[in-house]
Amino acid sequence: MTEEKIRAVLAKYNLGKMLDGVHAHEGLVQVTLAIKREEAAQLEPLRAKIEAELSALAGVKNAAVVFTAHREAAPPPPSPVANILPGVKRVIAVASGKGGVGKSTVAVNLAVALARGGLQVGLLDADIYGPSLPRMLGLARKPEVKDGKMLPLHAWGVACMSIGFLVEEETAMVWRGPMVIGALTQMLTQVEWGALDVLVIDMPPGTGDVQLTLAQKAALFGAVIVSTPQDIALLDARRGVKMFEQVRVPVLGIVENMSYFSCPNCNHRTDVFGHGGAQAEAARLGVPFLGEVPLLLAIRETGDEGAPITASDPGGEAAGAFMAVAGRVAEMLQGAAVAGPKISIE
Ligand SMILES: Nc1ncnc2c1ncn2[C@@H]1O[C@H](COP(=O)(O)OP(=O)(O)O)[C@@H](O)[C@H]1O
Ligand SMILES: [Mg+2]
Repeated sequence: MTEEKIRAVLAKYNLGKMLDGVHAHEGLVQVTLAIKREEAAQLEPLRAKIEAELSALAGVKNAAVVFTAHREAAPPPPSPVANILPGVKRVIAVASGKGGVGKSTVAVNLAVALARGGLQVGLLDADIYGPSLPRMLGLARKPEVKDGKMLPLHAWGVACMSIGFLVEEETAMVWRGPMVIGALTQMLTQVEWGALDVLVIDMPPGTGDVQLTLAQKAALFGAVIVSTPQDIALLDARRGVKMFEQVRVPVLGIVENMSYFSCPNCNHRTDVFGHGGAQAEAARLGVPFLGEVPLLLAIRETGDEGAPITASDPGGEAAGAFMAVAGRVAEMLQGAAVAGPKISIE
């Protein structure tokens, strides 16, 4: 009887506990060998030999000997987010509870400052409805496509991508949620980001679905929350912090933008909105305070001219403020010592 012949063949090999199952039915034989994953290569010749021998038995039309590793706890499948940006070491988001607080200004200058510090830096403008990168970086070209992937544009030592490079502003304005998510996903996966130490994402304003999805898709290392002194009072920054806590993205810290007015003529410093609130709020929320950026005409002007102040006046007060923030962020990028768990995907 065929089954006896099969057992006789298997017995020769002293498979012991490795033999996990034998099924024979109308000349079709399947043998399962339970092994450790790392033993597979070493045991392959044995597997092939048994398979050949079983196939040669009279009455056997087809024999398959397969490995299984199910007796061990299988390692979790690689999550797609881990592979979505294969060459990128860290992804950080610059976010805020609402628009107009200087999120893009901070994102751009943070990226340029990190690049000046010697890191390979990318910058993704994820603000589909109000992209700022084309203006702030003075870029109006369309990205080239190579091997089916878009090449980022380079400005001030930073690799940049924005929906504003791709479509007219009015086009994206009418997109609904799913199209926005689709466009963002493409800007993550269909762009040849290359090897980056850090990709900085200028997040859309607010704390809605798009922000949450992006936070999860991009496997964020952490988030930088930008706030003005007024927003602190209005609790907008707190909402931003809450959002990232919800998706278990560590908050790297809070930047207080337009913190104080620094008079370009006499260097007199005026706390227009009562500065210092962000530091107190950061302490209350238990997140680091990354620094304060002055309200300076030159920051807006250079932003509008496409030459961020960290690049156009690197020795100035404003650039110094951004460099200090970048220094703290760079330190955090080095280690894993960020408070809070990394992102978890449901
Ligand atoms: N520290 C600052 N000093 C002066 N102007 C600033 C400063 N930060 C931002 N701005 C200006 O405020 C406006 C809004 O800033 P932006 O970065 O576009 O904000 P958001 O991305 O949060 O909407 C821009 O015109 C910008 O140049
Ligand atoms: Mg913006």
